[in-house]
Amino acid sequence: MKVFLNPDREIGRRSPMLYGQFIEHFHRQIYGGVYDPQSPFADEDGFRTDVLEAMRRIKMPILRWPGGCFVSSYHWKDAVGKERQPFFDKAWRVEDPNSFGTDEYIKLCRKTGCEPYICTNAGTGTAEEMSDWVEYCNLESEGKYAKWRIENGYEQPHKVKYWSIGNENYGFWEIGAKTASEWGRLVKEAAKMIKHVDPTTELTAAALTDIHWNIELLENCGEFLDWISIHEYWDGIHQTNDYANYEQVMAYTDRLGHSIDEVRGLLTAMKLDKKIKIAFDEWNLRGWYHPNVHTIKQGVTREEYLYPRDKNDDNTKYTMADAVFTACFLNELNRNCDIVGMANFAPVVNTRGCIYTCPEGIVLRSTYHVFDLYVNYLGDIVLDTWSKETPSMKVKAKDGRELSVDALDIVATKWSDRPGLAIAAVNKEPEEALTLSLNFHSAKGNVKLFTISGNSTESYNDMGYEEVRIEESEAGAFRMGMEIALKAHSVNVIWIEE
Ligand code: AHR
Repeated sequence: MKVFLNPDREIGRRSPMLYGQFIEHFHRQIYGGVYDPQSPFADEDGFRTDVLEAMRRIKMPILRWPGGCFVSSYHWKDAVGKERQPFFDKAWRVEDPNSFGTDEYIKLCRKTGCEPYICTNAGTGTAEEMSDWVEYCNLESEGKYAKWRIENGYEQPHKVKYWSIGNENYGFWEIGAKTASEWGRLVKEAAKMIKHVDPTTELTAAALTDIHWNIELLENCGEFLDWISIHEYWDGIHQTNDYANYEQVMAYTDRLGHSIDEVRGLLTAMKLDKKIKIAFDEWNLRGWYHPNVHTIKQGVTREEYLYPRDKNDDNTKYTMADAVFTACFLNELNRNCDIVGMANFAPVVNTRGCIYTCPEGIVLRSTYHVFDLYVNYLGDIVLDTWSKETPSMKVKAKDGRELSVDALDIVATKWSDRPGLAIAAVNKEPEEALTLSLNFHSAKGNVKLFTISGNSTESYNDMGYEEVRIEESEAGAFRMGMEIALKAHSVNVIWIEE
């Protein structure tokens, strides 16, 4: 494949928030995930230091919390202060001790250096409850909620800028699901009240790629919104646990950006594309496996409670297929960085997340290394590229369709604060190395290659077993152009250092 670019032709500056993450009170994401006061790895506030360190390494820019479906029957007031009552979480059918609430979440954000992003209860909650939450977090000392925060030991406001009104309230699965017109009305009232409390907040609300839902939302509330939220999980394994194999996963890379294109088109048609950005605030190749047996039983040991291994915990399932898919989607986000300002990989820890906890340590799954590569090795300005002779590959999708998809996926970047180019190049071919021919005159220098490929498409990482990692090599000198061989099933960053 021949790739051409002109470093002056910029698509835009990518927001760091494109590499954001999500954490939900679901499975072992919070309890037994990032928060486990009795673990030998816990710090003085109960956070696992090994997880915090892994989060810092991928410079987690923003963390969406507390749900997800979880939030639709969550009442934040029950989880602050000294008097905490456990509650039965009706979304996931498990008792939540409420020992991790707003103040613990803000601590987590401060410890990892990320921006907080709170999703509110638009299922059983009201506009008033949402705006009370904003008072608690953002007002200096006016009113009972800011005073309550101070009484709880937090003199300074938490300064939460990003708020989502609800989660997937269009879905039948969501507690308190709404019709399009009910949704428009609730979002408008909630947005008004939140902005009256703190006009500097940025608000989003759930959209889906249903044009009627979105038109209703944007017509009613467009003036109050700064963002519109979309979610996508490609491989739905909810009850069945039948993970797509490598070839089927590659079939999902066909038209990866379709929901971005549809929402962009609508925002443009409604003349809102300069005002509202897309928050792709939940995404992952895999949907989750729902064990349906979540309720805590009396008499279980701590290990059984916090580390009850289920099918989400089978690390052999998160392979190079996940890594290659994740890189292709990050490429798509980069290419759309003029309209997508935030994205949140779902979730960051446990379930099908990129970090996995065991009592004796953590596993950095294949997807973790893709975040490491993209966050730490790519530039922040995305360049326009064009290509010739793009190789394609035939794949059979999980639903039996035969498709032809591009075998290489490229995104070129440069840095706003230093010279050089960094090109992300994904080779989806399962067995075949492919040659990338870079053709432009505007760069020269030494070339370094950072590669994730494992030994096979099935490579994975587990406790004490690491097959997938970033490998670095020298690739020669770039003078007016060069050819680079990309390993089969690999995710690469090519650095041209000037
Ligand atoms: O992560 C599990 C669920 O997936 C989230 O709660 C929901 O928002 C999505 O459907």
